[in-house]
Amino acid sequence: MYVCLCLGVTDGQIREAIYEGCCSYREVRNALEVGTQCGKCACLAKQVVKETLAEV
Ligand code: FES
Repeated sequence: MYVCLCLGVTDGQIREAIYEGCCSYREVRNALEVGTQCGKCACLAKQVVKETLAEV
């Protein structure tokens, strides 16, 4: 599913970034630029990060 429509970032890409070493929303944002355009996806992106971090 797309989390960020501006940049076409999916929840799968966010999970992958975390599996590859990102350990905060800030790091995921720096890596994928998710939430850096309109910012509407920030809340959902944070939630995906939080859920994924809870799993790993
Ligand atoms: Fe992610 Fe606009 S939807 S920055």
